[in-house]
Amino acid sequence: MKPQTEKVALITGSTRGIGLAVAQRLGQDGYKIILNSSQKEAVLEATQSMGKQIGAERVFGVSADVSNEQSVEDMFTRIKDRFGRLDVLVNNAGISPRLNGEKPTVETTPSEQWLQTIAINLTGAFYTCKYALPLMKPLAWGRIINMSSQAGRMFTGFASAHYSASKAGIIGFSRVLAGEVGEFGITVNCVSPGKIQTSMAATYAKSKEVEEIYRSRSPLKRVGDVQDVVGAVSFLASTDADFMTGSVLDLTGGFYMP
Ligand SMILES: NC(=O)c1ccc[n+]([C@@H]2O[C@H](COP(=O)([O-])OP(=O)(O)OC[C@H]3O[C@@H](n4cnc5c(N)ncnc54)[C@H](OP(=O)(O)O)[C@@H]3O)[C@@H](O)[C@H]2O)c1
Repeated sequence: MKPQTEKVALITGSTRGIGLAVAQRLGQDGYKIILNSSQKEAVLEATQSMGKQIGAERVFGVSADVSNEQSVEDMFTRIKDRFGRLDVLVNNAGISPRLNGEKPTVETTPSEQWLQTIAINLTGAFYTCKYALPLMKPLAWGRIINMSSQAGRMFTGFASAHYSASKAGIIGFSRVLAGEVGEFGITVNCVSPGKIQTSMAATYAKSKEVEEIYRSRSPLKRVGDVQDVVGAVSFLASTDADFMTGSVLDLTGGFYMP
């Protein structure tokens, strides 16, 4: 793959976990990187740290809460002012809230928690896409990569309803958007990881138990690492994936096989 030195990639929720690893990989691929999370300090820290790795002029940090439309609009104004373009959007920001460390049931889920999960995981991607498209269309090229989850593909027994609904929802959203923007050279695909070792996965009280079940049921006999996700995103962002849109790449060690 040719280094993508002109192209600009925004990865939401990229101060830790999968998003940070994806940003580092796209940085190695040569993109200019926009880091984001809802916490100013975390964005500053990640931006300084990545700047040391790939050069400060190639990293731009913007704190914004993706569930807040005004905040997203402001982020895109700053991106437009700084770069005047956006080539790759990775909608990675997400939460998987628990209740006292456990997975809430539909009955026990506080309604506020339901709304917040849908707002960040699903509506957040709607907002970023809405404001990214005017920066992609003039390029007649663009890549939107949305982070779904195995929990959006099947019943796992590990995930809560709000999280699963948001991750299934983003697949439907991505298909319709792929249909709308293909004629502008913009592709929209999802990646759908299984259990990946990050702080999100560790917040679950039964994390170790789930890991064991995961190992025993998956053909590859292990849980995933952030590095298991970055290659798929790098591929979908690249010109190698030119003829691919509306797809879901499952990264579950074979746990989920349609
Ligand atoms: N880990 C897994 O097993 C797994 C499996 C399948 C799919 N996924 C998906 O992969 C994505 C990343 O997960 P992860 O495990 O890396 O989680 P993580 O370690 O908790 O990281 C989540 C990132 O999203 C940011 N974020 C949260 N709320 C935000 C908001 N309102 N606006 C902007 N940024 C926000 C967080 O920063 P702040 O809190 O500072 O805002 C952080 O940078 C999520 O969409 C998740 O659903 C994870």
